[in-house]
Amino acid sequence: MSRIVLGVGGGVAAYKAALLLRAFTEAGHDVRVVPTPAALRFVGAATFEALSGNPVTTDVWSDVDEVAHVRIGQTADLVVVAPATADLLARAAAGRADDLLTATLLTAHCPVVFVPAMHTEMWLHPATQDNVATLRRRGSLVLPPAVGRLTGPDSGPGRLPEPADVAALAHVALTAGPDVLRADLAGRRVVVSAGGTREPLDPVRYLGNRSSGKQGWALARVAAARGAEVVLVAAGVDLPAPFGVRVVPVGTAEELRTAVLAESPDADVVVMAAAVADFRPASVAATKLKKKDDPREVPEVRLVRNPDVLAELVAKRPPGQLVVGFAAETGDDDGDVLAHARAKLARKGCDLLVVNDVSGGGVFGRPDNAAVVLAADGTATEVPHGSKDAVAAAVWQTVLARLP
Ligand SMILES: Cc1cc2nc3c(=O)[nH]c(=O)nc-3n(C[C@H](O)[C@H](O)[C@H](O)COP(=O)(O)O)c2cc1C
Repeated sequence: MSRIVLGVGGGVAAYKAALLLRAFTEAGHDVRVVPTPAALRFVGAATFEALSGNPVTTDVWSDVDEVAHVRIGQTADLVVVAPATADLLARAAAGRADDLLTATLLTAHCPVVFVPAMHTEMWLHPATQDNVATLRRRGSLVLPPAVGRLTGPDSGPGRLPEPADVAALAHVALTAGPDVLRADLAGRRVVVSAGGTREPLDPVRYLGNRSSGKQGWALARVAAARGAEVVLVAAGVDLPAPFGVRVVPVGTAEELRTAVLAESPDADVVVMAAAVADFRPASVAATKLKKKDDPREVPEVRLVRNPDVLAELVAKRPPGQLVVGFAAETGDDDGDVLAHARAKLARKGCDLLVVNDVSGGGVFGRPDNAAVVLAADGTATEVPHGSKDAVAAAVWQTVLARLP
C-alpha cells in the first residue's frame, strides 16, 4: 500500500478526479485528496472524503497541530495533480504556497505528476508552456493533455487523459520506481513488438504460442511514461493501448515483419519482445478442415520457415539505432539457458538480448518476471524478480546507458 496525494484543481474535469481516486483506493492505496478551493466549487468535499476515507481540507489553517501543510507532502509516496489547471501550474512553477495543495507540492520529496486539463488556448499560451517547462526542468512529470472534446462545443488538446490511464501510470511509478517518471526518453522514437504471432491453418484454427504480450505492453508503457514516442506492434493481443502509445495490431509473422520494418527506419530503439513463429503451415485451407469418418485419417500439416525478423532488422538498421531482442529459453542437454542465449545473440547480431528462463512455463501470462540482459560486448546484467513494469524499467535503464 502506498500513500498517494491526489491534488485536484478547479476545472470541469475535477469530476474525473473522483474516478481516479476510486482507481487508487481499489488498488489498495491510501489516498489523501487535497483540492484547491476552486475545485470544491465543482465537486463537493463529501465525495472525496467518502471515497478516500480521509478528511479533506483546502487551507493550511486546519489540523494546525499536525502541521498538515508540511506533513502531507513529506509522507507521500506519490503526488498526482489531476486536473492541473493553468492557474495551478503557474502557482506551482512560481513556488507559491497559498493553499494546502501548493504547500504540499513544496514539501513533497516523492515523484510528482501533473495532469493538465484546460481549453486549448490556455494550454498553448506561452505563459502556461513556460510554467510546464519549468516544472519539467525541476523533475516533475507533466503529461501532455489528451486531444478531443472539451467543455462546450470546442475540441482540441486540453482534455484530461482517461483516469484509468493516469492510474496505470501511477502504478508504473509506484512499482517500477520513480526513475520511470524521468523524461529521459523524451525526443526518442521507440518501436516495441509484443504478443505472439498466429499462423492460420484454416479459417478457424491457427498455430500460436503462449506469449501474453504483458512484458511488451510493460516495455511500451514504461517507455511512454519516460517521454518516448512509442509504437507498439501487437501480435494477437487484445489489451487496452497504454496511454500515449500507438498500437498497430498484426496477426501473422509476415504481418508483424511488414509493420515493424515500416515503423523502424527512423526509430532510435527497436525492441522485439514478440514471440514470432519460426514456422507456418505451408498452405492455409480455404475452408475448415473436417474430420473424416475413418478415425485413422488425419490431416498432415507441412511447415515452412518464417522470415527471421530480428536478423533482418539488424541487417537493415540505420547508424545509431539500437536493436534489442528477446529470448525465451529453456536449458537442455546442449547447454543451459544462458549458453543458448549467448549463441542466439551472436547469431542474430543484435545489441542487447533480454533472456527469460521459461522452463516450466513460469513466465507466460504472469504479472511478474525476471531476466538477464546480455550485451554484444559480453556484459550480462541481472534483472531481479519483480513486476513486468519493474523489469521493463530495468531494461530501459540498460538501453539508455547505450543510446548515443
Ligand atoms: C466553469 C469553469 C470551468 C473551468 N475550467 C477550467 C479548466 O478546465 N482548466 C483551467 O485551467 N481552468 C478552468 N477554469 C478556471 C479556473 O477555475 C480558475 O483559473 C481558478 O482560479 C483555478 O483555481 P485553482 O488553480 O486554484 O484550482 C474554469 C472556470 C470555470 C468557471
